[in-house]
Amino acid sequence: MQPLSTDQIRQAYLDFFKKHKHAVILGASLIPENDPTVLFTTAGMHPLVPYILGEPHPAGKRLTDVQRCVRTQDIDEVGDSSHLTCFEMLGNWSLGDYFKEGAITMSFEFLTKVLGIPAEMLAVTCFEGDKDAPKDRESANIWMKVGMPEERIGFLPKAKNWWGPAGTTGPCGPDTEMFYWVGVGEPKGNPATHDKEWLEIWNDVLIQYNKTGEGTFEPLAQKTIDTGMGLERVAAVLQGVPTVYDTDRFKPILDHVLKLSPRERIPDTHEMESGILRHARIIVDHLKAATFIIGDGIKPGNVDQGYVLRRIIRRAIRSARQLQISATGEFTPALAEAVIREYGHIYGYLKTKEKEIRDTLSAEERQFSRTLAEGLKHFERVAKESVQTISGENAFHLYDTYGFPLELTEELAVERGLHVDEAGYKKAFAGHQELSRAGAEKKFAGGLADHSAETTKLHTATHLLNAALRKVLGSHIWQKGSNITGERLRFDFSHENKMTPEQLKLVEDLVNWAIEKDFPISYHITTVDGAKKENAIGVFDDRYQTEVKVYVMGDKEITFSKEICGGPHVARTGMLGSFKIQKEESSSSGIRRIKAVVTGGLGEIEVAGEGK
Ligand code: ALA
Repeated sequence: MQPLSTDQIRQAYLDFFKKHKHAVILGASLIPENDPTVLFTTAGMHPLVPYILGEPHPAGKRLTDVQRCVRTQDIDEVGDSSHLTCFEMLGNWSLGDYFKEGAITMSFEFLTKVLGIPAEMLAVTCFEGDKDAPKDRESANIWMKVGMPEERIGFLPKAKNWWGPAGTTGPCGPDTEMFYWVGVGEPKGNPATHDKEWLEIWNDVLIQYNKTGEGTFEPLAQKTIDTGMGLERVAAVLQGVPTVYDTDRFKPILDHVLKLSPRERIPDTHEMESGILRHARIIVDHLKAATFIIGDGIKPGNVDQGYVLRRIIRRAIRSARQLQISATGEFTPALAEAVIREYGHIYGYLKTKEKEIRDTLSAEERQFSRTLAEGLKHFERVAKESVQTISGENAFHLYDTYGFPLELTEELAVERGLHVDEAGYKKAFAGHQELSRAGAEKKFAGGLADHSAETTKLHTATHLLNAALRKVLGSHIWQKGSNITGERLRFDFSHENKMTPEQLKLVEDLVNWAIEKDFPISYHITTVDGAKKENAIGVFDDRYQTEVKVYVMGDKEITFSKEICGGPHVARTGMLGSFKIQKEESSSSGIRRIKAVVTGGLGEIEVAGEGK
């Protein structure tokens, strides 16, 4: 029998949970909406945080989807057999519906019956217990009931068997994880006794707590099941291949890279040792990530998502140079084309945006190629000034500013009878990593689930602003991005020209007028078509589910704003206090950006509920 393809596994998952009464919802963008605390969507539960915290989801209490994710924490592991920065997570959720028994029973049934994995190849772990939550014997008992032998069940502490919060605060809980035997010979023990030989493939998180800013765990009113299965890992397991890069969707892209490289191929394991395979895998992973990230609307830049995007494109190009592949403008677009060939039928927007993706990559590649040329000039200066040794600082500067990997600097140095202070380079490198880690931690601080009064008010203000902009500038205004911190909102929208001071004043006045009117706010659930018919603002691309929430801000006479949104919002516009635009500037070509604040509103707010 043919092993299941990646496409078949993805579909089988959705079909299975649909059969078990889950609504199939669409995965969200890689760029979190209204969430300044994380750069990318890193798990299927990410876009669902408001619902996990208790907002009703329009599609119901049982959900399933496929979520594209980007995680950069493990970027240095990329190139081994199982780590990726960009991957697909299959997930199912119970929002206050079934709990442990339902989740575990369905997981086991899917693995053994639908995917046909022999139960002997599986093992699981459960939470060992600590001061925050008791030992999870209940899950272990359910596992035994469905047929898992006791010796295949390991108990592990929080460091291993607890998931979340995704940021520093938010929903979290103990989890029970499923593993596949990848060791030599017959399966032995469980992941608690034979860690390296069991590969994690699925995680059922038993969300019961909200971690607060003070570090305490508050029980949540609603118990949630949040699961995440790594599609690429499961494909590798089912297809009997040693790495995720050998699965059906990755292999053609990997082969494409290897074909481009004139470097002599050394069969099998030596290829890994020589670095050829590792570099080729890095290229595949990074340019796949870049293709998806650009597809979700990001351009390479010097801050936030744009910066991560630039780094991964440049890392891929550096690996290409190691493989002696020339990269002067054609290489990355060709790789994007190979990626879109494998994923465009599932992620249609990649196809629609293919030209934009290719052009963006090509421009970045050309620019980087010029930077490298400048780097060579800089290297020549450094080499002239150096006696015997190129200092670690200089080597790091070449890396950091001109993207020269250490190996390149070393090669060039050898040609001139010099050597590089490698220890010094590593020290400089480590110092820099500390700095960027500090930056990253800051970015994550505040937590995912920041639905404080301040962010909720700013979120409502964003809707009023959107509506006011359309009234003042016209209906060509569409939201192109939104980012809210506790202090301010940032709103990007389609508009060619700089706004005049008069226009800005009008918009600001209009929002303040709507606040003074103290309009009630409520939502109702309707279909996408229904929302269109009632002229709700929304980006009617393929992002919405069949059912959506529409938030209305207005009274019987005036509908000031009507917009598709997941919420939450405040219950009345008057809770916002007063609205002030701080800045209007260009964000990118054809897109303007407004930063604004609200002040003097209520410290304690009420959240808008369902209306008629
Ligand atoms: N949210 C869980 C994870 O990412 C399922 O592993």
